[in-house]
Amino acid sequence: MCRIRRTGGGSEQDGICFMLVLGIESSCDETAAALVQDGHAVLSNVVASQIDTHRSFGGVVPELASREHLRNIGYVVSRAFGEAGKTYHDIEGIAVTQGPGLIGSLLVGLSFAKAMAFATGKPLVPINHIEGHIFSAFIEHPGIQYPLLALVVSGGHTSLIHAQEPGRYESISRTRDDAAGEALDKLSKFLGLGYPGGPVIDRLSRQGDSSRFAFSIPKISDGSLDFSFSGFKTAALRHIENSKVRPHRPGRRVSQAILDLVASYQKAIVDTLLRQTSKAAARLRPSSILLVGGVACNSLLRDTFKETFEGMAVTGSGPQDFKPPTVYYPSPLLTTDNAAMIAAAGTPKLHAGVPLQLDLNAFADLRLC
Ligand code: KG4
Ligand code: ZN
Repeated sequence: MCRIRRTGGGSEQDGICFMLVLGIESSCDETAAALVQDGHAVLSNVVASQIDTHRSFGGVVPELASREHLRNIGYVVSRAFGEAGKTYHDIEGIAVTQGPGLIGSLLVGLSFAKAMAFATGKPLVPINHIEGHIFSAFIEHPGIQYPLLALVVSGGHTSLIHAQEPGRYESISRTRDDAAGEALDKLSKFLGLGYPGGPVIDRLSRQGDSSRFAFSIPKISDGSLDFSFSGFKTAALRHIENSKVRPHRPGRRVSQAILDLVASYQKAIVDTLLRQTSKAAARLRPSSILLVGGVACNSLLRDTFKETFEGMAVTGSGPQDFKPPTVYYPSPLLTTDNAAMIAAAGTPKLHAGVPLQLDLNAFADLRLC
């Protein structure tokens, strides 16, 4: 996995970089720190979630998020060392999220990491959060084959990234409006089902009839593989208004009308993700498909992707000469925002050698490619 031979720290054998890295992540509403050995072995993975702080607002409030990060960062980092049974002296480098994300939140993690690098003299590498999500799949599946196609699907992002080889990324498509997780969170908020909406809708959809409401999947007229989810939200809101579906009241049983609506809505989102990914896979012929980012926890999404692509392998269906790719996704703790993925992404870069970068800045809209 680590191709670079130049040594910046640790040692290397059979493509594995032997080094202990501290990862720090604070791009949105999770303050996270992790110690990862050799890019794969997660010695600790501490995540302080701010869900309780933002729940009553039905979404992340940036100002509150920055303040919570400030309150939590010191404790989270020292707990990551404690759980791993390591000290500052043991690490060979620090990897920190530089963007994209909420600027105030990013700056807390980045400033903390810079201060640590200055105090300890350890090298520091900035990591793109999207690249972190891509690396989250490699932690448990180090044998993932390139070329790969990654569906990065979370509360802030929905994009397809193609990588011919490690570090060579090409953006294939992105959402033109809401991210898939945002679409789930918004409907959940509207129906009074709670925050974050993705896990709630995932759970409730199992009791609903997903064929009850037909959402038409938008066709992007220029033939691109971009995504669009805002039409589903508008259609759902119109349906709620016309059919007089009442928002859920806490303590009551969730109505069948709501269960059927969220099941149909989730299916429309998953079908959209599958359709665009299948088209991209037919065009690019990747060896692996990675499902990463918080929404990749979704059980329907995971099952649908596995069944579709592995089904092709069994039946030989799909385009001519098409060797179906293998689908990979991380376990849930590595799928939602975490710092182990940042440490894993930083390991080959630190191994290659990075200068002491105390003038690093954070960027809310940092691009991967
Ligand atoms: O990756 P993540 O933790 O943060 C961002 O980078 O945005 O993703 C959070 C998103 C939220 O929108 C949440 O509702 C969604 O992931 N999510 C899910 C599930 N678990 C989390 N969406 C669908 N099904 C789930 N099981
Ligand atoms: Zn994320």
